[in-house]
Amino acid sequence: MYKDLTFDDDGYLIDELRDLGYDLEDDDLSDLDFRDPDYGDYAEDAPDIILDVPYVPTDEKIIYAMLDLAQVTSEDVLYDLGCGDGRIVVAAALERNTRGVGIDIDPMRITEAIEYAGHTGVEYLTRFFEGDLLEADFSDATVVTLYLLDLVNLELRPRLLDELRPGTRIISHAFDMGDWKPDQRQNCGSINVYKWIVPAKVAGLWEWQTTQGDTYRVELKQKYQRVSGQAWINGQPALLDSALLQADLLELIIKKNTSSRAERFLMQHKGRELLAAEGDLQATPAVKIFQP
Ligand SMILES: C[S@@+](CC[C@H](N)C(=O)[O-])C[C@H]1O[C@@H](n2cnc3c(N)ncnc32)[C@H](O)[C@@H]1O
Repeated sequence: MYKDLTFDDDGYLIDELRDLGYDLEDDDLSDLDFRDPDYGDYAEDAPDIILDVPYVPTDEKIIYAMLDLAQVTSEDVLYDLGCGDGRIVVAAALERNTRGVGIDIDPMRITEAIEYAGHTGVEYLTRFFEGDLLEADFSDATVVTLYLLDLVNLELRPRLLDELRPGTRIISHAFDMGDWKPDQRQNCGSINVYKWIVPAKVAGLWEWQTTQGDTYRVELKQKYQRVSGQAWINGQPALLDSALLQADLLELIIKKNTSSRAERFLMQHKGRELLAAEGDLQATPAVKIFQP
């Protein structure tokens, strides 16, 4: 059932005008400030936009290198933060059938991006928002692409680490992330493309039992994806030979002493536990008994 729609002489919906707070009993609507669709007037009216990064579009070759490095698939949700004319989001949709979101602070760029997605027929896979990338919610991304600047990457870094799920890939055209070293770097002529995989947070004191009845304990320190620490078996100091973290998977190699056999534990971080991901040596999930 359609609602009755009433329009004024200029074709505006009376209900919309009322919702905007205009007194429709007053015949003189000359004080209404409708935006002239002419772009010249629009630019004059538009508030000053402060760009943290100037608009420089990514070259097609680099876009494909970025999509390849991220191993983007149709299962992904790709966010381009500072999306310009939407070319990365559109390429991912066209080439990989990937759903994508582009965010840019410049409304002209968003208009271009929406038009581009429409022309290429991928509007059903893409969304573009005008907004500040430093404040936008991108937490449902599985891939984040960036072509920003070192300082903007650094400002964004804590949010990328805290708000993205472990395993999310971050791909940056040309600019790195300071002391968060990339998991992979690819050289495209004179340009570097960087990849980081968001690591789970595994620092703390963990304890679990093995099927042989031993109690293992590790104290892990973490800097980004790098993990180190100490181990104990049944309360006695042991050797933590190696600790490797990728996304939410943690591999620990532990020995009773230098001459004993190395035991390998592959665990998946879930909530406050590390669950056995391989083998039958680990009898119980590792539980966190202290958070630093
Ligand atoms: C170097 S261009 C990259 C465009 C696109 N990602 C590409 O690779 O082709 C940077 C973009 O970031 C946008 N930008 C700058 N500061 C921003 C901010 N604070 N929030 C959102 N977008 C911003 C600019 O408008 C520009 O389109």
